[in-house]
Amino acid sequence: MRGIVYTGGDAVVTDRLEVGEPGPTQVKVKIEAAGVCHSDLSVIDGTIPYKAPAVLGHEGAGVVEAVGSLVRSVKPGDHVVIATIANCGVCRACNSGHPTWCIKSLGNISTPFTYEGQPASNFAAASVFAERTIVSEVQAVPIDDDVPFTSASVIGCGVVTGVGAVLNRAKVAPGDTAAVFGVGGVGLNVIQGLRLSAASRIVAVDTVADKEPLARRFGATHFVDASGSDAVQEIRSIVAHDPSSTAGALGPGGVTWSFDCVGHPAVLRNAVDALDWGGTAVAIGIPRRGTEVAIDVNSLAYVDRAVMGCRYGSSRPRHDIPLMVELYKEGRLMLDELVTETVPLEDFRHIVEAMHSGKLARGVLTF
Ligand SMILES: NC(=O)c1ccc[n+]([C@@H]2O[C@H](COP(=O)([O-])OP(=O)(O)OC[C@H]3O[C@@H](n4cnc5c(N)ncnc54)[C@H](O)[C@@H]3O)[C@@H](O)[C@H]2O)c1
Ligand SMILES: [Zn+2]
Ligand SMILES: [Zn+2]
Repeated sequence: MRGIVYTGGDAVVTDRLEVGEPGPTQVKVKIEAAGVCHSDLSVIDGTIPYKAPAVLGHEGAGVVEAVGSLVRSVKPGDHVVIATIANCGVCRACNSGHPTWCIKSLGNISTPFTYEGQPASNFAAASVFAERTIVSEVQAVPIDDDVPFTSASVIGCGVVTGVGAVLNRAKVAPGDTAAVFGVGGVGLNVIQGLRLSAASRIVAVDTVADKEPLARRFGATHFVDASGSDAVQEIRSIVAHDPSSTAGALGPGGVTWSFDCVGHPAVLRNAVDALDWGGTAVAIGIPRRGTEVAIDVNSLAYVDRAVMGCRYGSSRPRHDIPLMVELYKEGRLMLDELVTETVPLEDFRHIVEAMHSGKLARGVLTF
């Protein structure tokens, strides 16, 4: 079958891939559409270290083709979005409503594929850049048949990650202010999550000025072109200090929430520097392992500022994915508009180049 394999330092489109049959608690899915997330590119360029060969892709939707003997929640023919969290379902974290904290859900690499006859592993427990993949039952989340696969696919990572960071992790309140660094597939979903939460001012920041119309379409009230200006100063002038409230040192003014959807230490530092007193910066972007950011502790400790990480939108996939579909059907969540380019699997390179030049919201591969 066809797919995209990380071969160590590069990725190849191949038709020399095979996949096995599902185990008792697994599901085999025929992939119909797959979004390209920056994390796939980060494997290829070594930002996320990964053992080759591995089948890439972790944002996909398709049709259940076969199920293991113990699977009860889906059947052949069901349409599903694939969640990347293969959580165990029985540990304390899972049962406290935090599957993204399940220790079994990180690094649970398996090798359901062969590439040129040799074992090949999965990536993000998903591997949706293949005609067929095998996931655990908990990851195959059923959705209504009338959602186009291209639009459904992006829920699998970008939407859940971005909207979830706002709703589940930050729990943004109406009237809060926010800055979103990086207007890509994740950042646009943070922006629309903020719109859903009735944030008052939503400042989008990107180094590509052409991202402004897209950012505004998804709900940004302001846009800062970080290539030609000091983003922190711009944000502080857009959300200025309220002169009627207490002021002092340590930078009053700025936003209640900031989101790093880039994964660069300078961006996270800017995200912290753009905060008002009591504000929190949410780290979503994934830089190289070991990356550190210097922060003046006083700027946190004196004024209730914080930095928090957020994995996969701190989501509960079997709750949040159906919710995203519901919001989409009600016209409150933009999915079709996220898919700015759809190409056959073979044109993966084209999507990679378009992402690097900042041209896309999301590029989606079809099979
Ligand atoms: N924490 C998680 O669970 C999770 C999930 C998905 C993706 N990610 C990570 O989130 C990040 C974003 O992913 P994506 O798919 O949205 O990427 P993307 O390539 O679609 O978008 C990145 C955007 O950032 C912009 N950008 C680059 N440098 C910038 C800078 N210095 N300042 C402002 N903007 C800048 C680009 O122009 C682009 O618009 C990646 O690091 C990815 O690995 C994390
Ligand atoms: Zn992703
Ligand atoms: Zn668990």
